[in-house]
Parts: sequence; structure tokens; C-alpha cells
Amino acid sequence: MGQKKEIRLRGRFTEDIAGSVMRYVASLPFDQRLYKHDIQGSLAHAEMLARQKIISQKELIQIRKGLRLIQVEIEQGKFQFKPELEDIHMSIENRLYETIGDVAGKLHTARSRNDQVALDIRLFAREAAQNTIDMLIKLCSVLVDHAKKNIQVVMPGYTHLQQAQPVLYSHYVLAYFEMFRRDIERLEDYLKRVNVLPLGSGALAGVPYPIDREFVARKLGFGSVSANSIDAVADRDFIIEYEAAAAITMMHLSRYSEEVIIWSTREFGFIELSDAYTTSSSIMPQKKNPDVAELARGKSARVLGTLTSMLAVMKGLPLAYNRDLQEDKQGFFDTVDTLISSIEVMTGLVNSLQINPLRMKTSMDSYILATDLADYLTKKGLPFREAHDIVGRLVSYAIGRKTELNKLDIKEYKRFSSLFKDDVYQITVDSSVKARSSYGGTSPDQVKLQIQKAGGMLRKYETQKN
Ligand code: ARG
Repeated sequence: MGQKKEIRLRGRFTEDIAGSVMRYVASLPFDQRLYKHDIQGSLAHAEMLARQKIISQKELIQIRKGLRLIQVEIEQGKFQFKPELEDIHMSIENRLYETIGDVAGKLHTARSRNDQVALDIRLFAREAAQNTIDMLIKLCSVLVDHAKKNIQVVMPGYTHLQQAQPVLYSHYVLAYFEMFRRDIERLEDYLKRVNVLPLGSGALAGVPYPIDREFVARKLGFGSVSANSIDAVADRDFIIEYEAAAAITMMHLSRYSEEVIIWSTREFGFIELSDAYTTSSSIMPQKKNPDVAELARGKSARVLGTLTSMLAVMKGLPLAYNRDLQEDKQGFFDTVDTLISSIEVMTGLVNSLQINPLRMKTSMDSYILATDLADYLTKKGLPFREAHDIVGRLVSYAIGRKTELNKLDIKEYKRFSSLFKDDVYQITVDSSVKARSSYGGTSPDQVKLQIQKAGGMLRKYETQKN
């Protein structure tokens, strides 16, 4: 009586915890971020307990009021986080005691921190995946707009970073659209697996109360409830899966960044980044640096490091919960933040960049049409391998004379094959692009078809949202 109400966990201990240990084991400095999810989960749990008559209606009303008050306190910055309370779950529960008294102790009936933390982090992961998808959709729509706007632009396509064959610039841009489209699909598929309710698993064995897990699942928007209580509290593969998806997306962003960095050099000069997405040098006044792209490239390393570290955390853990699992959060939060901000800046960067079609065109010499010459002979009946060999010798001849292929005389052509006729001069970068009309190829018709399909997909997302 008269004693200050607070959470008591050290019933079996006779000594206080050492200060260094308290700091060492705490997750509060970083898991505060889960306060909303924790309260959301507790509200659903308490409501279920009351419905099942495990607590009374009156107790529910008190708990609910207390939890809502705490949420307001946290959001208004009035909540006092105490370092001796290990994590956000203990902090909120302790504050509930201070606010509503002993009845606070009933909230944790039929629940353990193990299924509680599994729930909170799943709620967070689901939200993160949804936000990531939304950001990726924006990026995709900017890429498609960019491709549509520049449909007439031809550029050199590369293999081994050597000029290979001409392609439409839009085709190149849509290659990235395809990667990010798959990234969206990956996360959509992920949502099915993350959207499973672990609460009701207790510490590991389930709980000895007549709980209604389906009700809690519906309340929190989960598609199903976990089928094995041990797995539900021990599993973090849903974090690893997001991190894997994030690592792939960051890898895609990093590759695109690499193009941006190379293309914006003076040597390439294919694109110019807007001032808003570049930085200047502190010493060289002429410089306009692609730091945004460099950082997206650099940050991808950290994201994939987090994936590796989480795999390492998990790989030797016996079932079920082990404290090692607390190491899931910092990396996960960091990955979510890094990924979402990287997508955001890259979206802005693409949206604001200028391209230089003339420079793209003039960077190509006639040698980029060598495959077209081989195809020309093949279409006149030569086996492709033979045609390839003839054109190879022709190229070598032209290089030896320091001249372009289209500057050679028809008599010179004929020395290599009698199949060469005057129409060989009709081979240009435009005809080359136009000829590649196989499905998924770079011909304008094919690229327009893909732009149309992409638009359809983006509209589908738009209507899904509304
Ligand atoms: N802070 C812990 C974590 O983030 C919460 C779960 C603690 N459970 C336990 N049995 N100590 O993983």
C-alpha cells in the first residue's frame, strides 16, 4: 500500500543488475521506434482477453485508456524513457502501471515478450514493405515517363563496356524498369509471408488460456495465424527476407548509379544531372559531382552487409527465442531507411536529368554496325559463322586504313564477298535498331509495346490503391 506501482521482474534475484550489464542488454535506445506497433498489438490483445472473459470489460477500458495516453505522451515527447527498463515493451508496460495501477499487470496475461516482440517487428516489417513498394512504384513511373519522352533517342549499347550494338535509350531505361518491377513483385510476395500473426505463441509453447487468435489476427489485419508456437517466436527469416529483397534493390540502384556516374563524365557526356541532385567541390569550381549516385552505390554495401550479418546471427541458434535475436533491429531499421531514401533520391535524380541525344549518337562509329553487316550477308544466304568471319576481316581492313566501314568503296566490299551490293550503305544505326524487332528487342515498335504494358501495370497499382 502506498508503494509506487511499477513492473517487477526480479523476483528470483537477490542482487541488482550491474550498470554495465543493464546498458549492454538494453534495446530501448533503438526499439523505441516500435512504440506504435507495440501499443497497437497490446490494444488488440487486451480486447481479445476481454471478449474471452479472461479480463473484465472494466479492466479493458482502463488498459485501453492507459495505453492511448501513453501513445500521446510518446508522440508529444513527454514520455520519460528510463534506461533501466530494457526495451520498449517493458517501458510501456511500466508506464501503464504508473498510469492505471495494478490492473496493468493483467495485460500480459496469455502473452510473453517473445511473441510480443515477434508481433511488433512483423507489424513494422509489413508497413516497411508496403512503403517500399509505394516508393518503387513512383520510381517505375518516372522511368516509364522518361522512356516515353525520349523514345526517338538512339545510343550505343554495351557489353564489356565496349560499344556493342545501337539500342534505343528508352530500351536501356526500361531495362531498369524491369528490375524494379521484379523488386516490387518480390515484396508483394513477401507480404504474404510476413502477414502472419505470431501472438498467442507465448514464450514458446502456446498459452493455457482460451484465447482467440483469429480475432487478434483480424483486428491487426493479418492474413493468418502462425501454426507452430516455437517457430513463431524463434523465426526471423521474415527480416532476412526483407533484407535480401532490399539488397537486391540496392544492387539494382547501385548499377544504375554506376551508369549515371559514367554517363555524366565529360568523356561520355550522355547525361547532365540537375543542380539539385549534384554537389560542388570545395576546391575545384568547375565540378558538378554525382554524389547522390555515388552514395546509393556506396550504401548498397551496408545493406548487403546487414543481410549477411543477420544470416550469421541466426545460423547457429537453437530453438526457440535467444537474446541474440535482439540484434535483428538496428540493421533492419537501417536497411529500411537506407533503401527508402535511396529510392526516393534516385527517383528525383532520374526525373530531373537532361540527356544529350546528339552526344549519344556521335559517340558511335560505324564499327557498332558490324553485326548488322554480318546479318546482311546471312540474309543473303551465308551461314552466320562465315558471315561473321568475313565481316571480321573487313573490320580489320578498315581499321588498318583508319577509315569507317561506311566510307569503304563498294569494290573494297566486294573483295570480301560478292554478296555485298549498294544497299549495304543503307545500314545505319536507325535501321539497325529498327531491325531488332523480336519480342523484347530494341525496335521502336517493341519498345512502345513495353511502354504500353508498363503503363498498364502502373495504372493497376494506382487503382488498387484507391
Ligand atoms: N528486447 C528483446 C528483443 O528485442 C525483447 C524480447 C525479450 N525476451 C526475453 N525473453 N528476454 O528481442
